[in-house]
Amino acid sequence: MKSVSITILGIESSCDETSAAICHDGKILSNVIANQLVHQQYGGVVPELASRAHIQNIVPVVDTAFQTANLLTGPEHFLQTLSAISFTQAPGLIGSLLVGCQFAKSLALSLGIPLISVHHMQAHVLANLIDDRKPAFPFLCLTVSGGHTQIVLCESPSSMKVLGETIDDAAGEAFDKSAKLLGLPYPGGPLIDKYAEAGNADRFLFPEPQIPGLNFSFSGLKTSILYFLQEQSGRNKNFIQENMADICSSVQQRIVTILLNKLKKAAMQTGIKEICLAGGVSANSALRKSFEQLGKKYQWSTYIPAFEYCTDNAAMIALTGYYKYLAGDFSELNVSPTARAEW
Ligand code: KG4
Ligand code: ZN
Repeated sequence: MKSVSITILGIESSCDETSAAICHDGKILSNVIANQLVHQQYGGVVPELASRAHIQNIVPVVDTAFQTANLLTGPEHFLQTLSAISFTQAPGLIGSLLVGCQFAKSLALSLGIPLISVHHMQAHVLANLIDDRKPAFPFLCLTVSGGHTQIVLCESPSSMKVLGETIDDAAGEAFDKSAKLLGLPYPGGPLIDKYAEAGNADRFLFPEPQIPGLNFSFSGLKTSILYFLQEQSGRNKNFIQENMADICSSVQQRIVTILLNKLKKAAMQTGIKEICLAGGVSANSALRKSFEQLGKKYQWSTYIPAFEYCTDNAAMIALTGYYKYLAGDFSELNVSPTARAEW
């Protein structure tokens, strides 16, 4: 018997990236991402501006996703092509989520095809299944982004358990807030990474928080960096400029050791050796390097999605939609987005 092909349009609009992707039988055919540069001048994402930019971007982004996938675009072709539409339902900025949700609902209603709501954090984890080289179940995933820091046990595409998470700031926030203290523009994470290349990571020692279990905390680190910089700059007003590389390298090393010490603990507690990274912070070069080194030391099989699937993207939403389609896990048309949601 010939199996029926499944094609999913995925929509992501939880924060400041408008993205659309096409997934055909579990393979990603396109992943189009429109970044919103408007926020840079404000030092962070401005929710109202993000919603407006999503409204401007969503139609051209979806159109480009069809073209890039070599599919005919336009409403007359959508019905022949699409099996279902998946979208990010939670968590995120409510105004931003509403744009993707309303777009997905309207298109699903007009085409009479199923609608699938996706949890953004579940999708970040499943981004590890996009590549041909995939982790075997069960695997552990350290998801590190600007909004989240979690260690997740993934037993199947639909069965995940959060083993640990941050009790305050996310790892990306720790990078961005540290960068702000150093006078660097938003988002500062990539800049810390860049300056750190030429720095000595052992020059300054920042404390590692003692948090029980597998949870994380980064707010103490931010405070200790603040006091350290105030003290040093009081003695030498050029301290930051003269020591930028060493400060960045030392801060980065501490964030990475906080993350990986907990990941190591989770691997030991569960006995799992299939270990993944996910989320925007997994672009950090020191994190990637130390993660691979740790993998070699403990005989883990390690996985990191391609960069375009680490930061916010619709490919992970389309792929999660594909697995939910296989499981018959559809949403009603009266579904609405939620800014915060456990899963
Ligand atoms: O996953 P993501 O694109 O968006 C969220 O869902 O938050 O992650 C963005 C975060 C930002 O905090 C950014 O500074 C951080 O990822 N980031 C990095 C690097 N690239 C992105 N942090 C450190 N080093 C990097 N190379
Ligand atoms: Zn994200």
